Amino acid sequence: MPVAIITGASSGIGKGAALLFAKHKYTLSLTGRNTDALNEVAALCVSEGGLSADDVLITAAELSADDAPKKIVDATLAKFGRIDTLINSAGILRSGPVLESGIEVFDEIMNVNVRSLVRLTRAALPHIISTKGTVVNVSSITGPCPSEGLNPHHPSTILFHQPLGHPATVENDSQLR
Ligand SMILES: NC(=O)c1ccc[n+]([C@@H]2O[C@H](COP(=O)([O-])OP(=O)(O)OC[C@H]3O[C@@H](n4cnc5c(N)ncnc54)[C@H](OP(=O)(O)O)[C@@H]3O)[C@@H](O)[C@H]2O)c1
Repeated sequence: MPVAIITGASSGIGKGAALLFAKHKYTLSLTGRNTDALNEVAALCVSEGGLSADDVLITAAELSADDAPKKIVDATLAKFGRIDTLINSAGILRSGPVLESGIEVFDEIMNVNVRSLVRLTRAALPHIISTKGTVVNVSSITGPCPSEGLNPHHPSTILFHQPLGHPATVENDSQLR
């Protein structure tokens, strides 16, 4: 069975992706910080997605932590032996008036939404290239749109399209999608 790592799997789009991939018979490596919520999603992937409990791995991790990419990739390989797909769905949204939003807000958004995405993708990529697999970055159609106040979330989503956005950026003959 193909193996998908899904970040942000405890909620929202990542949770929905987990159930969808379960129904498509992927084994799942789910990550987020909220262990209770991750366990609920894992149970859903079994009860509604048709997987066995052994087909779902949970790795609770703060994505911006130094050791998070290695922890998630190593745990996935130890359990399933391969990685076919990485769904980068973890993300945070902060917004507010410019004068009330310090640069630390910008830094937090960029750290979680962009830097952590790039670090995890780099850690998983050699294994995804070897399976001719797929990386999906969950972005936002509102990214290019002007918004009220300081909203670093929007520029952060635009960046998802670029840093690792084209297979040729990675390796010309990788067949990565
Ligand atoms: N929902 C929308 O309408 C929409 C529209 C456009 C774009 N997006 C983008 O899609 C992505 C997902 O959105 P969503 O609506 O699914 O959000 P959500 O329901 O708030 O879920 C966010 C997920 O990210 C995880 N997460 C956040 N910070 C983390 C951190 N520091 N370390 C590890 N995990 C972290 C959360 O896990 P824990 O809570 O377990 O830590 C949670 O599973 C975001 O990047 C968002 O900008 C969403």
